[in-house]
Amino acid sequence: MNMSARQTPYLAMNNSTPGSLASDNWAMDYQSTRQASASDTTSGKQTSAIHFHDLHPTPADMRADVLDGLSSAQKRLSPKYFYDAQGSRLFDAICELPEYYPTRTEIAILRQHGAAMAARLGRDALLVELGSGSSLKIQVLLEALRPAVYMPVDISKDHLLQSAESLATRFPFLQVHAVCTDYSVPFELPVEDHVHPRAAFFPGSSIGNFEPADAQRFLTRVGELLGPGGRLLVGVDLIKDHRVLEAAYNDADEVTAAFNLNLLTRINRELDADFDLTGFRHTAWFNSDLSRIEMHLISTREQQARIAGRDFAFREGESIHTECSYKYDIDGFHRLARQAGFEPEQVWTDQPIDTGSNPRSNTAPDQPPLFSVHCLVWRG
Ligand SMILES: C[S@@+](CC[C@H](N)C(=O)[O-])C[C@H]1O[C@@H](n2cnc3c(N)ncnc32)[C@H](O)[C@@H]1O
Repeated sequence: MNMSARQTPYLAMNNSTPGSLASDNWAMDYQSTRQASASDTTSGKQTSAIHFHDLHPTPADMRADVLDGLSSAQKRLSPKYFYDAQGSRLFDAICELPEYYPTRTEIAILRQHGAAMAARLGRDALLVELGSGSSLKIQVLLEALRPAVYMPVDISKDHLLQSAESLATRFPFLQVHAVCTDYSVPFELPVEDHVHPRAAFFPGSSIGNFEPADAQRFLTRVGELLGPGGRLLVGVDLIKDHRVLEAAYNDADEVTAAFNLNLLTRINRELDADFDLTGFRHTAWFNSDLSRIEMHLISTREQQARIAGRDFAFREGESIHTECSYKYDIDGFHRLARQAGFEPEQVWTDQPIDTGSNPRSNTAPDQPPLFSVHCLVWRG
């Protein structure tokens, strides 16, 4: 989105928005004008509204979270703070890395099975995407899904706005209601819509960034937002050889290292801190007992940092734990989904799954699947 469009809020609703859909008075609607599509022969121009709902997710909580996390015995920082504008750019670069199999694998699954997924979710829905980032993956499904409203939800405001704008340009039929909020805390959908069925998309295995108990609570909240019969399409990274996992989070070009260290740059800027980035190095390993990748920043020497007026000491070799990425097997994820109140309907993977249902068959795949996409239905 260009700056002039962003600085010019339009409060009028777009006429083509379904009558039952109302934006609250704190929402800002950004209107953009773009060249007519080939089918738009009457006006020569076509306008579309990006409705932007800013629920102001971060500043005060970030200070308290960071000070609290760095005060604990195992120092930690929440991964949700990775995503300032630079963090979002670096994440997009990670998605292009040869070692980072999840993005290309999930997109391949969406491409191969998109029609079946769309048939499950249904057309004409209010479609919420959680942690939408660049809204790349949903593009594979949009033509088949034709949602009444697409609602990307993300904590990274500028990136969300840019992505929403370019998506609306690429898909002229789309009504976009972008919501900037922190999905890890309860929030309401900022629309009143009692007409369209609800569906949600949660790709990227971001579910793995929650501790399992928090993942269960989060899924329950998503189910409550969807209502009875609502469906969730969720991407889940699978347990696999630790060498494949560790390579994905320790890439040769050190883009993931830059992404991890950018957290300290952000804290320096936003919390008046003085971390010396040369005193920390990135590392990630698979913790097989807990079935999770852990990302850490390791202090390479004894040092101090001042953050928001408080001093913190770091020993040589001491770590700040910055991210967990839990890996599941299919049954383990289904257990989690059921405990949260969902019923698993279908799962798609990049390789056939050996169900073991016919002990005489010789169908064990040569390679186990890397990634899975699940359709879950909310039991209510
Ligand atoms: C790992 S990236 C995944 C991006 C994209 N969905 C994909 O699959 O490639 C996580 C995305 O979720 C957003 N995000 C992370 N934590 C969040 C939170 N607590 N609330 C809202 N968005 C969050 C980030 O800004 C980022 O866009």
